[in-house]
Amino acid sequence: MSAFKIVILPGDGIGPEVAAAGRLALETIGDVFGHNFTFEEKLIGGIAIDTVDDPYPADTDAACLAADAVLLGAVGGPKWDLKPKRPEQGLLAVRKSMGLFANLRPMDVAPSQAFRSPLKEEIVSGADMLIVRELTGGLYFGKRTRTETTATDECLYTVAEVERVAHVAFQAARKRRNKVTSVDKANVIETSRLWRETVNKLHAAEYSDVELEHALVDSMAMHLVTRPKDFDVILTENMFGDILSDLASVLPGSIGLLGSASLGSTGKGLYEPIHGSAPDIAGKDLANPIGTLKSVSMMLRHSLNLTKEADTLDAAIEAVIKAGTLTRDLGGTTSGSQVAKAVSDQIRIQAKVEA
Ligand code: NAD
Ligand code: IPM
Ligand code: MN
Repeated sequence: MSAFKIVILPGDGIGPEVAAAGRLALETIGDVFGHNFTFEEKLIGGIAIDTVDDPYPADTDAACLAADAVLLGAVGGPKWDLKPKRPEQGLLAVRKSMGLFANLRPMDVAPSQAFRSPLKEEIVSGADMLIVRELTGGLYFGKRTRTETTATDECLYTVAEVERVAHVAFQAARKRRNKVTSVDKANVIETSRLWRETVNKLHAAEYSDVELEHALVDSMAMHLVTRPKDFDVILTENMFGDILSDLASVLPGSIGLLGSASLGSTGKGLYEPIHGSAPDIAGKDLANPIGTLKSVSMMLRHSLNLTKEADTLDAAIEAVIKAGTLTRDLGGTTSGSQVAKAVSDQIRIQAKVEA
């Protein structure tokens, strides 16, 4: 039996609903496979502003740094939109504090589920990509200025920042279909020129066995919906990765399906669905928990080294999707908590099948 310390940051809107689904999956995995997960729930985002006037309280930071892994629901909401302290600052702070420079956002469309896509089945069926998004640099973390009439956001990247995330992308490609598409705006932006040069140099020096291509972000948005099957690993900077991953989430039918792992140079990580707090559906038990459950599967694999358990959770999620036990965003009528319960039941069934 192994013991793992998990910090959960439910946050705002649908965050607590999907985080509860993630916790249930971990509890079931712990029960079935005999692991001792201890959970600590901490404040982040809007609820942290309301409770202690700080989107990322010091004790949340201390708990995250001491945990084996962290699971996040979502932060933000209209209530805090015009205030100087913003929930989103909490999320940026935890990523920065934990040194999580690489955000892995996988997206795939199983042929049996391609009919759920708003795009033509033949275009999306079998698409399978991994977006590797730089997470602690660029516009999100540059200096800002503001007067009544002007505002600036600095976009800064160093060679070292580009290299470390590019390593992640090239190494991931070697375990997949061996291709990296690096996305930038090198025809206009200086940081993108540095990005492209750095990726090229690293490729020539260490990864010439991996196929590398470059794409400009504007036409890449188009290619992602017209020929998504051509892409394997997509490497890009913080802001472009944010936008392109929401776009890619449409291919399988809902942003509620995509999970992510935010990783640094240690084994620890933050696991977060790519969607936000979805204020329009919060509190109604309509939120799709699958993106969070996939994030939990990535946590089991990347931070806890529990491969068998991750495989079991993946199989459970797949079985529930195939059975059509789905939330409204995917055309189903099942509540989010019932989908979470169905996955938990399937974990027990799948574990018996595998034993
Ligand atoms: P959003 O991702 O919250 O919602 C976009 C649309 O997708 C909405 O119609 C929503 O109902 C739907 N949706 C999102 N997740 C869903 C799920 N699990 N199941 C079913 N439907 C789902 O994006 P937004 O509306 O632009 O942002 C709302 C708030 O969330 C903002 O305050 C934003 O800053 C914040 N946000 C937080 C995170 C995060 O915490 N990681 C990510 C993105 C946005
Ligand atoms: C995401 C979100 C965040 C981001 C916001 C809420 C800070 O959109 O996780 O994709 O832009 O990184
Ligand atoms: Mn986003």
